[in-house]
Amino acid sequence: MCTSVETVHPNANLSWTGNILLDNEFVRSLVVAQTVGIVFPETGRPDLPDLRRSIGSYYRIDHDWVFPGVGSSQVLDALVRFLGTVRVLDVVPNFHMARLSSDRDHLRYQPVSIRDLSDLPGLLKKLSPPRGSLLMLCAPRNLFGDCPGYKAVRELLSHFPGIAVIDEAYAEFGSSNVIPLLSELPSLIIVRTFSKAWGLANLRIGYAIAPSLTRDFHSRFLLAYNLRELSERSARAMLANPGPVLDSLETVRTLRTTFWRSLSDLTGFFVWPSEATSSAWNIRKLGIFEMNLLPGESRL
Ligand SMILES: Cc1ncc(COP(=O)(O)O)c(C=O)c1O
Repeated sequence: MCTSVETVHPNANLSWTGNILLDNEFVRSLVVAQTVGIVFPETGRPDLPDLRRSIGSYYRIDHDWVFPGVGSSQVLDALVRFLGTVRVLDVVPNFHMARLSSDRDHLRYQPVSIRDLSDLPGLLKKLSPPRGSLLMLCAPRNLFGDCPGYKAVRELLSHFPGIAVIDEAYAEFGSSNVIPLLSELPSLIIVRTFSKAWGLANLRIGYAIAPSLTRDFHSRFLLAYNLRELSERSARAMLANPGPVLDSLETVRTLRTTFWRSLSDLTGFFVWPSEATSSAWNIRKLGIFEMNLLPGESRL
């Protein structure tokens, strides 16, 4: 089910950020099996109750908090349109959605450039954003791979005068996530995807999780019937049988540690710890490199 690094196709694009250890043949047969029982001349259900229930029970959260969309890209875009009317603060480097949506809709977009996440609360205090602002943060970050812990997120949200969206596209590759904070932090919204760890990018399945979002958000911003039934069934099948994915993630974590130790031992290398599938390293006199954690391309 999982391929080893040695069997990864030699021409694979290794700067890709998905789960390279999840075999496409495994995913394909899981998806094909889901076609049985779909009545193709009919639409599925408008608001995906079964998928919301499956996600809710997998993460032990209320399924009414779950809002599926066409990939996390659509969910992020919908959240920016819904909540970004005052100001959008984007903690960069980040996935480009907050910037794209803000530019398109002429919203007040402010990039907040930061290397060390522990500097973020201080910087936000200095920027003093207006009440009703929207903070967009990816954790673990794309591309640095660093991740704020519970304490940092609590501190951040206790001072931020608006809603914070934490994009956890890579959370499954790491060792923690902020889902347990949802019930105590009403201004927190988490965005997740089946595109990375779960290997279903082609079927476009993402979702927001938040107690504060309402059915109105789904019907006005994500829209009814937004996901195909095949996508919904495939995501549910993955959650019902997560073993192969969880095994592959364990291997990714082991490889990441080996990679980090090996490079850190080299003279002149500084490798920042990463909880994701990408990593940043500094080679004295050359500057900052970023690359996928498995052998492959690197970019200066
Ligand atoms: C941080 C982050 N968020 C979201 C996405 C979008 O994923 P999708 O729309 O496939 O769910 C990506 C894709 O690269 C990403 O890196």
